Amino acid sequence: MSHIDLMELVRDKIKDLKAYQVENLDECTKLHANENPYPPSPELLNKIFQRLDKLELNRYPDPDCRNLKKTIANRTGALTEQIIIGNGSDELIQYLMQVLCDAEETIAFPDPTFAMYGITAQCLGLSPVSFPLNDNWDFEASSALKTLAEHKARIVFISYPNNPTGNCFSEQEIQQVIEQFEGIVVLDEAYHDFSGKTFLKQMEKHNNLVILRSLSKI
Ligand SMILES: Cc1ncc(COP(=O)(O)O)c(C=O)c1O
Repeated sequence: MSHIDLMELVRDKIKDLKAYQVENLDECTKLHANENPYPPSPELLNKIFQRLDKLELNRYPDPDCRNLKKTIANRTGALTEQIIIGNGSDELIQYLMQVLCDAEETIAFPDPTFAMYGITAQCLGLSPVSFPLNDNWDFEASSALKTLAEHKARIVFISYPNNPTGNCFSEQEIQQVIEQFEGIVVLDEAYHDFSGKTFLKQMEKHNNLVILRSLSKI
């Protein structure tokens, strides 16, 4: 019989983390979880069940998600080669850090913002740094760029609109960061369907720009 202290095997950086707690309430409008209070329409449910009937569940799905990429490309105007599909944008946030950062390198974000940028960075042994929002819940590009340069940040994550403040940061300040930061700018447009605002067009001009979208918020 083994009696190993399993906690001894866990990395210190992981032990430092607090469990991500989401309260499970029964009320129908769960703003803290950003869930839709309304269920899918009967028409949509019907389509899903019809499609399920035809699925080959004994096969792996297409790893390149070619049909989905084509549909997204048609809707957004992006090229299929520019699109990556993930299991939620959380997975893509993790991939971006794994692909672009070596151990202990820095990723940055405004504070307050979506908690997963910092949690994922810590789980991967990276250094998260933040720059403050002002009284209008906006940030100043000049001071953000200073923080990014000081810490040699590899990626800056900008939630647009921002979770949890709900506002879109000023376009001018974001534009300045895209143009002047010598790293990757991730504009997390998980709530795009509510704001209707996007930096998608800017991808033609700036190859350091990544746009994240999600299907979990509509
Ligand atoms: C700003 C932001 N980005 C990404 C996510 C994660 O979305 P997904 O469900 O696609 O992983 C959330 C979830 O709350 C979010 O608020």
